[in-house]
Amino acid sequence: MRPGLDNVIAAETILSHVDGEAGRLIIRGHDLEDLAGHIAYEDATALLWAGFAPTANLRSELAEARVRAFEHFKPLTDQAARLTAVEAMRLLLSSLPDDDRSKEPVNSLAAAGVAAALAARLTSGHTVLAPDTNLSHAADILRMVRGAPGDADEVHAFETYLVTVIDHGLNASTFAARVVASTAAGLPSAVVAALCALKGPLHGGAPGPVLDMFDAIATPANADAWIADALKRGERLMGFGHRVYRVRDPRASVLKAAVARLKGRANRIAFAEAIEAAALRALKDFKSERRLDTNVEFYTALLLEALAIPREAFTPVFALARTAGWIAHIREQEAGGRLIRPQSRYVGPWPVKAA
Ligand code: ACO
Repeated sequence: MRPGLDNVIAAETILSHVDGEAGRLIIRGHDLEDLAGHIAYEDATALLWAGFAPTANLRSELAEARVRAFEHFKPLTDQAARLTAVEAMRLLLSSLPDDDRSKEPVNSLAAAGVAAALAARLTSGHTVLAPDTNLSHAADILRMVRGAPGDADEVHAFETYLVTVIDHGLNASTFAARVVASTAAGLPSAVVAALCALKGPLHGGAPGPVLDMFDAIATPANADAWIADALKRGERLMGFGHRVYRVRDPRASVLKAAVARLKGRANRIAFAEAIEAAALRALKDFKSERRLDTNVEFYTALLLEALAIPREAFTPVFALARTAGWIAHIREQEAGGRLIRPQSRYVGPWPVKAA
């Protein structure tokens, strides 16, 4: 038995490959660095979905589906406003029917974007913005999430983020999606399962807490002492460590470069670099036998903060980007996979039979 299924191969996929030793991420035959910042989110989605889901006219199909999702979610907005942002997104996505197979992929992807935006706005007491079908998915979602349109640099940075996190092998949320898909439950149901798995701070819930850590440290001079205390208390440093990477997560470098390009914006890149260096020094001493390096969430926090996205919306924004990957995995699982049903080893008491 391997706790946490560490190193267990549970699926074959043509979608993405995480090389943890080399720090390399390949998405359908392309290095991440050749996609992120170079292609639109719709094109990255079409690349992933080819052979699994319809990809013709994805930009306009997605735009129309955003409008349908917005109308569909309207009756639920009062309830959503009483939850946290990620819970609100879960509520909204749970209302989608498992029905029209041909429309499910585009409907679910558009709905994830709209649900994340509505969740971000409603739970912070703001009015919601209706979709604009003239905009790309990235530009429209950025506008709807923060209530104001982005300029070209901001949209480019946001789109770079969406493409960077679009897929990542058999991570916990993708595995959850594939387990549900393997029972033939339907695509929208499998997407909700994936969102539930992503929500936790050990997976997609980390970037908000990264900013909480920045706030608590406040100034680079405090970093060493604050980090030493946190580790002494048995806390994990958010934005560091990964199950597969034994070197720096390549997505961290792509996102750091994207933040650096956002010149003139209120970003704290020098401050973050100082915290990162202090954390890496401390983790090296703290766990000399296990290499703990910077993961994607550290610079996600910095990028989304520089784009004026509220921190409560970070996990919903991650989820809306990853939904394209989940959908591809769900369809790949449905096409060729078997029911996922591992076994457990019973270590409880046995019935005592009367003599
Ligand atoms: N800070 C301090 N110690 C850590 C950290 C960390 N960030 N990460 C791992 N460790 C320690 C663990 O406490 C453990 O110590 P122990 O053996 O004394 O108990 C040891 O390193 C090994 O950790 P595991 O839990 O076995 O590593 P695992 O592969 O299960 O965890 C994970 C990976 C969950 C990402 C972990 O590194 C972590 O909790 N990081 C912080 C949260 C985070 O940044 N999550 C985002 C991950 S990226 C993503 O999912 C998109």
